[in-house]
Amino acid sequence: YRQNRIIIIIIMFARQALAVGLRSASSAGRRSNYVRTLGSQAQRLGRTNTGGSNYNNTSFGRGLAVAAAAATMATAVASVTKMEEAPTTTTAKPSTPATTNNNNDNKFYSIAADNNPPPRPELPTIPLEDVSEHNDEESMWFTFRGAVYDMTGFLQGHPGGAPRLLMAAGQDLEPFWDIYRQHFRGHVIQWMEKYRIGNLSKEDAVKARDFVHGDMFESDPKRQPQDLLPATSKPFNGEPRIETLTDSYLTPNNKFYVRNHLAVPDICPEEYRLIVKGKGKDTIKKKIYKLQDLKTKFPKHEVVTTLQCAGNRREDLHDKDHKIFISPHWVVGAMSTAKWGGVRLRDVLADCGLDVDAIALGEKMPPNGIEHIQMEGYDHDETGYTYGGSFPIEKAVDGLGEVLLAYEMNGEDLPRDHGYPVRVVIPGHVGARQVKWVHKIILSNQESKKSYQCKSYRHFAPDITFEKDLAEWPPARLDQGPIIHEQPVTSFVCNPPQGSTIGVKGVGGGIKKEVTIKGVAWSGGGRKVERVDVSIDGGTSWTAAELYKPISQRYNHHWAWTQFYLTIPLSEEIQEKLKRGEKVKLDVTSKAVDSAFNVQPETMAPYWNPRGIAINHWYHSMVELDPTLEAGQVQRSESEFGFSNTPSGGHFDRQWGLGGWMVDPKHDND
Ligand code: MTE
Repeated sequence: YRQNRIIIIIIMFARQALAVGLRSASSAGRRSNYVRTLGSQAQRLGRTNTGGSNYNNTSFGRGLAVAAAAATMATAVASVTKMEEAPTTTTAKPSTPATTNNNNDNKFYSIAADNNPPPRPELPTIPLEDVSEHNDEESMWFTFRGAVYDMTGFLQGHPGGAPRLLMAAGQDLEPFWDIYRQHFRGHVIQWMEKYRIGNLSKEDAVKARDFVHGDMFESDPKRQPQDLLPATSKPFNGEPRIETLTDSYLTPNNKFYVRNHLAVPDICPEEYRLIVKGKGKDTIKKKIYKLQDLKTKFPKHEVVTTLQCAGNRREDLHDKDHKIFISPHWVVGAMSTAKWGGVRLRDVLADCGLDVDAIALGEKMPPNGIEHIQMEGYDHDETGYTYGGSFPIEKAVDGLGEVLLAYEMNGEDLPRDHGYPVRVVIPGHVGARQVKWVHKIILSNQESKKSYQCKSYRHFAPDITFEKDLAEWPPARLDQGPIIHEQPVTSFVCNPPQGSTIGVKGVGGGIKKEVTIKGVAWSGGGRKVERVDVSIDGGTSWTAAELYKPISQRYNHHWAWTQFYLTIPLSEEIQEKLKRGEKVKLDVTSKAVDSAFNVQPETMAPYWNPRGIAINHWYHSMVELDPTLEAGQVQRSESEFGFSNTPSGGHFDRQWGLGGWMVDPKHDND
């Protein structure tokens, strides 16, 4: 088996090398980036050994080194010992959370500061050589800080994908986690104890981690730390400051949330190809389009849509009793709106011979039982596994569906982080299917088999947990975990900023008698936001807000969000307190109602789910009115991030609190 795997990897590298060769022939300008990325892959897979550990002499290690050589990447020697500076936020020590929840007791659950596995002297000492023998699907062992784990059963359950886990089999995890730092969140290491089978000797523990896993992300675009709050830096996932989301209707490109599973490909526009084909005979004619073909052969279409990551607000679902083992743990801002420009996918499918009109009108069924549009991106992990997903063909052929192969975002070329040069935009659908850097469109009678489709974005019942049910995939009743396509109605308050202090001192010593609330609301599937109710007393009393949507969208085609605002009079009681010079806390929240009369639930408890998706319970923004501050002044509780984005645990405690993920020194940039 090992030999087979080595052969596969050699082929993969040879293909990559060929791709590099082809690209470099016509694109000298961009060549260096490719070479740098692949160079670091070569080093990673051949592994840069900083001290000559025994394990580097395993046949697996040698095989990969040969593979790297086969791809003639020896020339591309990038230093992988120097880690790329992650987009940084200030790394001050964490402060007490500035905001409170309904159930707040200001608990600050820190990550186990050292992240060390507990001492287990009763377990046997296992030689490192033995561990390195267990490096394939049949037996997969790992070490981490002197502990040895047999995680064979976990292969398919790994949220980061099976191939990536297999890549590290028989080795120490820490060099990999130096890149994929999201593992350093205490609960991951705690949970791994269940797989613990032994210990390494002190000498072996040092030897085991004596290599560096190359950094695939070093050619990612540079981001500005002030724009996006990183939930993870490799891969990069960042959310905009929620307090700026109501500054404009369209989110500026640099502030649009970014959700990457993998490193960002650097694609030369002249080399870009879109392959469109069908599974089965006579489905459609296979065609390959260049970027220029897409831009010139089809009419340009524009659409304004809101994208939201299926896991937005995932952090809210994570507490000490309900743990979420999938990243990123978004706080709240993985939602943004843009005007996309490109070509309709249905026009391209028609060009390939699909009778889109007849299928849309129900006069014909799609050929060969086709039900799904599968998509694959150019981005891939260290083992060559690409991002992908699928969505129902009905949406693609719908004349009003507005599914785009987009090459523009807010009037500019797509930024690299958002899919340059071409991405799929599926209005009303979940962000995960809007495949960036799209390389292949495949019509099929099956859903995509990619883990991003059939594992990550499923919604399970609250009694299903990762630890008990999902770690050894598949769970007993996969049919009870539907795959998400359209998201539920949601809204959140953006202003006043979460955790801020608002001045209410009026001219001539009076007190301001009202407060203005602003936020955003959206529903999946094109459902219109019909009303947003706002409360400043945590949901005891509600008033309908004014709605703002400066573009017109049609019935069940409300792809883009609705912003809301309301100036709420302060009660007599509040005014009295303020006049006495007392500060007054407000618990500001909102609930949106969509055109199907779906309403946001108050709490997350009834639909807590272990993948942390479709989260739409009331978002609580905790603010304070200060009668000693001039009206109009807003003092932000500057967290160490300078972002107002804060989890709103509803009736739950927060696990990480403000800046929680910065507690672990290894995690200080994530
Ligand atoms: N496409 C590719 N090729 N790779 C990815 O990692 N992430 C998906 C989707 N398309 C992803 C992708 C997810 S989960 C989301 S939410 C959206 O892209 C985010 O798009 P954005 O980064 O432009 O906001």
